Amino acid sequence: MEDKTSVIREEFKKRIESVKSSEEIEQLRVEYLGKKGHVQGLMGQLKAVPNEEKKAFGQAVNQLKQEIEKLLHETHEKIEKEEEQKLIDSAEDYDVTLPMDLDKGSYHPITVIQREVEEIFRTMGFTIEDFSEIVDDYNCFEALNIPKHHPARDMQDTYYLSSGQLLKTHTSAAQNSIMKKYGAPLRAIFPGRCFRNESTDACHENTFFQMEGIMIDEDISISNLIYFMKTMLSEVFGQDVNVRLRPGFFPFVEPGFELDIQCLICGGDGCPSCKNSGWLELCPCGMIHPNVLKYGGIDAEKYTGFAFGLGLTRLAMMKYGIKDIRVLNSGNLKSLSQFIGK
Ligand code: DAH
Repeated sequence: MEDKTSVIREEFKKRIESVKSSEEIEQLRVEYLGKKGHVQGLMGQLKAVPNEEKKAFGQAVNQLKQEIEKLLHETHEKIEKEEEQKLIDSAEDYDVTLPMDLDKGSYHPITVIQREVEEIFRTMGFTIEDFSEIVDDYNCFEALNIPKHHPARDMQDTYYLSSGQLLKTHTSAAQNSIMKKYGAPLRAIFPGRCFRNESTDACHENTFFQMEGIMIDEDISISNLIYFMKTMLSEVFGQDVNVRLRPGFFPFVEPGFELDIQCLICGGDGCPSCKNSGWLELCPCGMIHPNVLKYGGIDAEKYTGFAFGLGLTRLAMMKYGIKDIRVLNSGNLKSLSQFIGK
């Protein structure tokens, strides 16, 4: 009987010397210590052993089992260390001890919607313009037919800088420069960040995004304006939207309008989102005032045009169902990423 255990022991020692991976160790463990393994096989033979030898045989098998367990354990530890070292060696310049940051970033909802709208207008032949956030009084007001002491200036609580310049209160401030840069005919949109000294609440922020658009050519009319706005908004919302115009006053357009879209939630029947009116105010617009064309160096006898000031912040809130505008400026990545996924 002694022989049998020594044969298995010797054979096991040879086998374990050539083992190279954790998987092979596991295979050996099953082969020798598993339910149908060699050690269990020896135990099965205990019945056939004469009574006086039973004790010695049992002890020999137990000892063999312990030796095999010990060897398996030691070899496993050795192999694990070697495998880890191989990983470190192959990582070369990488610091494998640094913590991993598995969180991927996401675009801000305003960025996503801005790019979407830009793409839609680009396909309709509009150029995309950038403009400074610090502007002067002329660009922000005078060139837009809002002279000094005009009551319309009270509509916008302006941040003035000590240099006499100001933070742009609306993207319309770029109209004059862009008209001078390109002349007519002209199709351009200019997104940008705007600032107003407002106290903040769920619907108001002192920093927000707009996208201004102008189209100037011979014979541009209100129907062109309605067509472009309807097409663009249907694309943004991924469904046909109904729009309507109401009169609105802005010194730089004549006539001026407030453009509403039919509520997408209730389809116009009235619900809490549209305050039961069936319509949502979305975008002020109008036909560019001849004075504004003249200030921009464009022949107001020959050309007409429309302009609109789309509230990008508002649009993002509507599209993603964001109830509190302050979430958008919070910098809280968790709440921002939930609106658009990763
Ligand atoms: N600039 C205006 C504002 O922020 C919005 C606006 C109204 C822009 C009418 C336009 C327009 O282009 O035609 O209050």
